[in-house]
Amino acid sequence: MRRVRPARRTSLVEYAVREVDALAQELEREGRKVIRLNIGDPVPYGFQPPGELRAALAEAVEEGYNFYSPSEGLWQLREAIAERERRVNSVQIGAEDVIVTQGVSEAINLVMTALIEEGDEVLLPSPCYPVYALYARLYGGIPKFYRLAECQGAWRLADEVEKLVTERTKLVVVINPHNPTGAVLEEGEVRRLAEAALSANAVVVSDEIYDALVFEGQFRSTASVARDAPVIGLNGFSKRWLATGWRLGYMYFSPSGELAEVKDAITRLARTRLCPPTPPQRAAALVLRQGEGFVGKLREEMRKRRDYFLKLVEQVDCLSLTRPAAAFYAYPRLTVSGDWGDDRGFAKGLLLEEGVAVVHGGGFYDYRSDRFRVVFLPPPDVMAEAVERIARFIKRHAR
Ligand SMILES: Cc1ncc(COP(=O)(O)O)c(C=O)c1O
Repeated sequence: MRRVRPARRTSLVEYAVREVDALAQELEREGRKVIRLNIGDPVPYGFQPPGELRAALAEAVEEGYNFYSPSEGLWQLREAIAERERRVNSVQIGAEDVIVTQGVSEAINLVMTALIEEGDEVLLPSPCYPVYALYARLYGGIPKFYRLAECQGAWRLADEVEKLVTERTKLVVVINPHNPTGAVLEEGEVRRLAEAALSANAVVVSDEIYDALVFEGQFRSTASVARDAPVIGLNGFSKRWLATGWRLGYMYFSPSGELAEVKDAITRLARTRLCPPTPPQRAAALVLRQGEGFVGKLREEMRKRRDYFLKLVEQVDCLSLTRPAAAFYAYPRLTVSGDWGDDRGFAKGLLLEEGVAVVHGGGFYDYRSDRFRVVFLPPPDVMAEAVERIARFIKRHAR
């Protein structure tokens, strides 16, 4: 039989979070019960977007917001987003600096498509939300990593980023608050990253999708502290509104003028997909105008779950965990080796034997091979059961 070959570049795309999930699904089809700690989506764990959001979405549909919106998004939403970023993050932008996207995921793709040429270097954190490295490679870019490391109970920038930039550096990616560690960078660290970008004439891309879910530390938006470096900020509604399935995010350009051509290129690219979904855009515009009061409640709920998870892990020998300061991820370290081999072997063995799905650190381009990521989203009894199974697996296989 003749085989149709996919484009060679697709072989560069490997997304561990979803791959772990494919194996978990296979086990479930065989009738196994799997505790999923692998996907950063609160909705399957019983969370739902707040009532006022759901009502606003229904109202948007009834009102007739069922048409193609402008490709850059509804003007009323772009205005509301700019107002939110000015008020909450002290980022001085106007509606014209905002483009609405189908989640931050699409924004990442658009930015990389518009900016990366063959051989360009993209500076990324290690560990890293993997999609950045995937898109960089897909467009011929070369990911280079600056390391994050645990230091006195917190995650800190562990490299002199200044030494990693070269004349080929095109983008410096900041993920703050950070997935998978839950780190919140200090203002000085954000500034250093921005200054490193400036010294190389590179653009800073700052993903701030968890900015409303900070438990400790002082989050500072990159565009508010970057001084002269050109910044593309990314944010969205998936996490802080528990609206993962709405597919709504946005990007904004620091209004220095330097990014005008990039913004124009991204706008042209955005036209090819017509528009982000219109009813959620209208709902978001309505809700942003009323304020996002419900987010505080969500943050407190997440903090409770985080504290409970920390307590559970404290009782397990052979795991050490630096307290996540934001988001809903924990990133423990295995302090023993075992016959599972590396982190990938650990995650696979744990899933197959104990039915607990986690993502190995390698899936996040970690420079070490003894970490894994879990979400602390399930109810307490499920988290307790999961940690018990993890402890049992480690005990059975540690050497
Ligand atoms: C750091 C980060 N950026 C972007 C995304 C994707 O978000 P969206 O649902 O807006 O596409 C995620 C999802 O987990 C994320 O963790």
